[in-house]
Amino acid sequence: MMKVSSIVGARPNFTKLAALEFAFRKRPEIQHVIIHTGQHYDELMSSRFFEDLEIREPDYQLNVGSGSQAEQVGRTMMALEPVLAEERPDWVVVMGDVNATIATAVVAKKMSLRLAHVEAGLRSFNWAMPEEINRVVTDRLADLLFVSEPSGLDNLRAEAVEEERLRFVGNVMIDTLMRCLPIVERRDVAGHIGVSSGEYVTATIHRPSNTDSPERLRAWMLALEDVAARLPVVFPVHPRTREKLGELRYEPRSAELRLIEPLGYLDMLALMKNARVVLTDSGGMQEEATALGVACLTLRDETERPVTIQCGTNRLVGSNPDRLPVFLDEALRAPLKHRMPEKWDGKAAERIAEELLSCRALPLRGR
Ligand code: UD1
Repeated sequence: MMKVSSIVGARPNFTKLAALEFAFRKRPEIQHVIIHTGQHYDELMSSRFFEDLEIREPDYQLNVGSGSQAEQVGRTMMALEPVLAEERPDWVVVMGDVNATIATAVVAKKMSLRLAHVEAGLRSFNWAMPEEINRVVTDRLADLLFVSEPSGLDNLRAEAVEEERLRFVGNVMIDTLMRCLPIVERRDVAGHIGVSSGEYVTATIHRPSNTDSPERLRAWMLALEDVAARLPVVFPVHPRTREKLGELRYEPRSAELRLIEPLGYLDMLALMKNARVVLTDSGGMQEEATALGVACLTLRDETERPVTIQCGTNRLVGSNPDRLPVFLDEALRAPLKHRMPEKWDGKAAERIAEELLSCRALPLRGR
């Protein structure tokens, strides 16, 4: 028996955890211990995802909650240490780039536990993003690095990570997307919201770089109002964005800009799948839009997921809202050619399970 502890904290982790949990269930040799740090705790940000994704209740709930970057990371480290001391797993698995990821990586390695990072090697090269710091530190510490797209391999090799620690396994989030597509296809989320399938835009904005400056956030909202003059815009609003819009006392001037509560995983996928265009600053949605073949316009200056541009339907608008109309025109004019990135085939988590089992005796870094 091999014990694997997966640590999750925030919304984008849950789709990745689901892929791992489904793959691990098929391997009776693996005992899976799920630890939720509680960074995301709202019903709509967390438990709804566990239900939608059919993940069982976590074995541990650390309830660290919201706070500054240091508070979240610090509280997670303090709460996690006794749990890992009790469990002593053969592998600690972290995923993505959220605060739970870096906090776990530091604690696990200081306890000399084997650490695997799922979605390793992605780089925005933008050090103003908390996620970039989380990625770099986690990759530096990990014993095994599971890479989702070719750029991840290039970046890690450029950072001189030893070849024997790299595994190009594909994208676990796409495993979950493929498993859930049949259910998603039966959902008429657009109809419930009152827009016609294929004739609306799905939008999300939640990154601090877009929300934390009142001028920037207002400019994006005005740009979305302009989009809404052409096609209805459905915008499920992240709690941070909701709070910042409240501070601005913002009310849409157009009834076609529909600000709604955050959606669960299945509804969000349905809302993306049937959209004409997706507008987002999320990392995961760039990948999901690529897998669904839906045009995606990314409201950032850079992406750590370049395969979504090389193979997929993603285009970088940048951080200036004035540029949006030109990109929207292009996206509406012609369907973008795209293909599925390599190894985005629904089997990434199975490859990870196999590797964890076969590498259980991998020497720890620096030993
Ligand atoms: C985190 C991730 C980000 C990811 C995003 C997805 C980090 C550094 N960032 O950012 O990469 O794209 O999750 O959602 O980990 N809040 C609630 N209820 C909740 C959770 C948050 O009201 O359940 C509010 C709080 O006011 C909180 C704010 O949202 O302060 C931001 O939450 P936080 O977890 O700090 O970061 P996210 O922006 O969600």
